[in-house]
Amino acid sequence: MTASATLLNDARGVRVTWADGSSRDVSARWLFDHADDARDPVSGQRAHGALASAEEARRIETAAIERGALQVRFAPSGAQLRIDLSRLRTDLAASARAIEPWQAPDPIAAAPPVPFKDYLGDDGARLEVLSRVARWGVAFLDGAGREPGAVERAVEAFGFVRETNYGRTFDVRIEPRPGNLAYTDRPLDLHTDNPYRDPVPTVQLLHAIVADASGGETVFVDGFAHAEALRRAAPVAFETLARTPVRFSFADDTGARWSHQAPVLGLDAGGDVEVVRLNHRSLDLAHGEPGAVDAWYDAYLAYYRRLHDPAAAFGRRLAPGEMVIFDNRRIVHGRRAMARESSRWLQGCYADIDGLRATLARLERTRALEPAHAV
Ligand SMILES: [Fe+2]
Repeated sequence: MTASATLLNDARGVRVTWADGSSRDVSARWLFDHADDARDPVSGQRAHGALASAEEARRIETAAIERGALQVRFAPSGAQLRIDLSRLRTDLAASARAIEPWQAPDPIAAAPPVPFKDYLGDDGARLEVLSRVARWGVAFLDGAGREPGAVERAVEAFGFVRETNYGRTFDVRIEPRPGNLAYTDRPLDLHTDNPYRDPVPTVQLLHAIVADASGGETVFVDGFAHAEALRRAAPVAFETLARTPVRFSFADDTGARWSHQAPVLGLDAGGDVEVVRLNHRSLDLAHGEPGAVDAWYDAYLAYYRRLHDPAAAFGRRLAPGEMVIFDNRRIVHGRRAMARESSRWLQGCYADIDGLRATLARLERTRALEPAHAV
């Protein structure tokens, strides 16, 4: 079978059939916008404006497959454009989410940490780390030494530091007059960081510089996987957490106050969870009708208990030189109690997930273009 193109829908679209028999119906306006020739050859950006398809591509005059490309002549403009057949197929493929939810920590526990120097110096190692963050939401490094500043070097390998009122980096250690419960020896409930910010920091890094603590394990749980489990087991509770905005607030000792209102489970347009906001320390719930407040608490605690199931968690006492990079919209994290006399210093840093994804895309593309190694 050879590839073919047939006009349909009063010539406002075309049915493209590939050599393997699979086919897709495609609109004329979409084709006009996605043709190879529609893009500026230097920048790769679309060169024409939004109205061009309405003015120049009302119909298709002719469509044919020639030399591996769909050739289309549009009316009334007479514009003749081409689109590579294999690229067309890729562009039309549904973009599946590349995440791998984990309800139990087996895949995380089975993946050895990547050496820090390899992550900085070797594209393959960096690709492995960034793709773990994309797939599982979390990746571990070791061998990062005991010098402060390693988290900034780790971020600069994929993007830019997200500076906040805590600075370019922040230090999680026991302080005499802590402005945040993170800086005490108390255990910390599972949480995402800073849901009182808009936008919330999307990537977080933590580097253990000192860790002679007994206890003080850092714990990670996949908030997305357990939100989906809640949706299957208790759909009303899931909807309550996804549809009810709640406020999170934080005030520092200068009187500055950060405050943002949003649901615990933020959904994307397709209904998938795209952000978890969970932080009981900064929850600033408004009181409404008591029945509605109780219903919200029931839903909140149903999710909270799932996350705190010991079987859900990956716990690791970060040794000096170990570092973790995680998606702060997906992974809830916490800390088990430390002995009071213990000494522990984690340095943290925030960054943006778009930079991480952009670097991951570049590394994946470079890998795809590499010639296969002979065996
Ligand atoms: Fe935290």
